[in-house]
Amino acid sequence: MSKTFYITTPIYYVNAHPHIGHAYTTIACDTIARRHRMLGDDTWFLTGTDEHGQKIERAAQAAGKTPQQFTDEVSAEFRALWQRMGLTHDDFIRTTSDRHKQGVQALWRKIRDNGFIYKGTYTGQYCVSDELYIDGIGPGDPCPDCGRPTETVSEENYYFKLSAFQDQLIRLYTEQPDFIRPETRRNEVLAFVRSGLRDLSISRSTFSWGIPVPDDPKHVVYVWLDALANYITALGYGSSDTAKYEKFWPADVHMIGKEIVRFHCVYWPAFLLAAGLPLPKCITAHGWLLFEESKMSKSRGNIVRAETIVDTLGADALRYFLLREVVFGHDGSFSFDALVQRYNSDLANGLGNLASRTLTMINRYFKGEVPYPSNAAHAASDDAIADAAKKTIADYGALFDQYQFSRALETAWTLVAAVDKYIVENEPWALDEKKDEESRARLATVLYTSAEALRIVTALAHPVIPDATARIWAQLGLGEIQKFDLAQLKWGQLQLGTKLGEVQAVFPRADKSAIERMQKMEEQNASGATGVSPVQPSAATSSAAPAKPEAAAKTAAAISDGKISIDDFAKVELRVAQVKTAERVKGADKLLRIEVDLGTEVRQLVAGIAEAYEPEALIGRKVVIVANLAPRKLRGLESNGMIVAASPEGGKPVLASFLEDVPVGTRLK
Ligand code: ME8
Ligand code: MG
Repeated sequence: MSKTFYITTPIYYVNAHPHIGHAYTTIACDTIARRHRMLGDDTWFLTGTDEHGQKIERAAQAAGKTPQQFTDEVSAEFRALWQRMGLTHDDFIRTTSDRHKQGVQALWRKIRDNGFIYKGTYTGQYCVSDELYIDGIGPGDPCPDCGRPTETVSEENYYFKLSAFQDQLIRLYTEQPDFIRPETRRNEVLAFVRSGLRDLSISRSTFSWGIPVPDDPKHVVYVWLDALANYITALGYGSSDTAKYEKFWPADVHMIGKEIVRFHCVYWPAFLLAAGLPLPKCITAHGWLLFEESKMSKSRGNIVRAETIVDTLGADALRYFLLREVVFGHDGSFSFDALVQRYNSDLANGLGNLASRTLTMINRYFKGEVPYPSNAAHAASDDAIADAAKKTIADYGALFDQYQFSRALETAWTLVAAVDKYIVENEPWALDEKKDEESRARLATVLYTSAEALRIVTALAHPVIPDATARIWAQLGLGEIQKFDLAQLKWGQLQLGTKLGEVQAVFPRADKSAIERMQKMEEQNASGATGVSPVQPSAATSSAAPAKPEAAAKTAAAISDGKISIDDFAKVELRVAQVKTAERVKGADKLLRIEVDLGTEVRQLVAGIAEAYEPEALIGRKVVIVANLAPRKLRGLESNGMIVAASPEGGKPVLASFLEDVPVGTRLK
């Protein structure tokens, strides 16, 4: 009977759009799942989206949507991206699905019935961005994890007796050192748990976007208890059909980023222990993908989208780069330069070139049939390749199974380089020219050896670069690579006389323009996403401008988790100005041309307030303007700023003004 293998990604928050940070974890899991399937394991690969909680509720509000509508849309984006990238997850769980809600409630009841839930009052700080309760800080203090402001909450809650599990958890980490990988993360968790565990608030009653607590629907389940449960609810835990749960739980590995280690390594095992359920075998945390020197994240706005890379260089290029370039477990930087360099050196010039030169020579010299290696024409260099290939199979597997992807790939590409060198040294083209029998036998051996090494690298690399390797496999005349049993991979399996398929380059070289193209695609996306200034929706002047597309407004809100930092606000230069002249703009019913005095200068603005104010009535009036708005033209007139007004639904704009007198030019902050 085959072994089962169950692997999960975190379920991603839907408060923002997917980026290559999310793709990183999902690609790593996809690669691992593919290898296990190729090895014959009965594999289940789960991913999904985390859709409840205050953060999501606020992001939906900021986007002007209901939470359900909002989460439906963003969750669909994740699913569409994974599909476009050809990822092979077996299931996609949404925490807003009925199957999940039912499972979470079943888990809650189990923990409650076992006596680990009680009611109490929580007063303290809460970080909405991390959805985390924070002890040891006071009102006004920032979150020690992410630096964002925390909110004081005081509510009657349900508590989980986390403190009861301190000793059991310490024993778990000590007796099962592989429970948390890598070791640095294990040591951190151990230190955290040793320093003492306090009971955990596991319900909220001040908002409603969550799963109702069983028998007390005024409360919703704490979003992390809700989210973590996905790993079992997706298998049918708490439903009438638990076959998958019986088959695949406990998971072989929960793959996560290092920032959510505590939730997975402390809370999750404690919840499971409290419910009397088996624990996952291993939690593996990788490092962060950095871009422009800091963690790529939606709230920093320094993201790169996977679509840009997939459209330009293909999904394999992104997969290979992330697994080859970043040392798994450590932080690693992403840059378009490095991506294109890796792509060219390792894929286009490396594997791609080896495949096309080997297969083209077999076509040319042996009519497209894998030739017969000859004992008589045997040389030590052939054995060296065979030995290197055998060692590569062993080393690659061992490194890969410890998730040392970069070293595993390095090993395989060392073989690629060795075969390249072997071909150059043996000069098959010169052997072909000699036309004598001995040279012909030697040529056959050299090309057989090269093709066999190519086959081995292709099989090993398939989980990482599935598209290209599937094509090379077919070009080698071997059919569908998915059907190949990787556990049987050995030197010498390539059958003599195998007829090659049609030979085509798999990795066309990329030039510098690819870098520029990708950068431009991302710039355009970013400007589309952030081009909405926070005050613009109330803009009286915007009536003449085209309405902002909803999607862009949504992105702007989402990028900031629905909130902006004080620094973001500081970018908007609001000043008191006095109207000097005002007149109607010919042919535009809504527009006024206005000159305002800013104290330091007089400026022309065009404002969409003609239906609300007579021009004469405005002269001498003090108004608030956005002074640093980029100039734009309305009806051929340049507008250098924007007058701030309230825009009541269906009503006329009302200018912001002051009850007390304020000097012209004063900044609002
Ligand atoms: O934390 N580098 O969701 P999330 C590497 N919903 N990995 C990154 C990354 C980066 N720059 N950015 C994101 C949550 N990731 C919770 C999880 S699980 C029960 C609930 C990846 O949308 C990485 O796997 O913030 C990280 O842990 C995850 O996305 C966080 O996604
Ligand atoms: Mg996060």
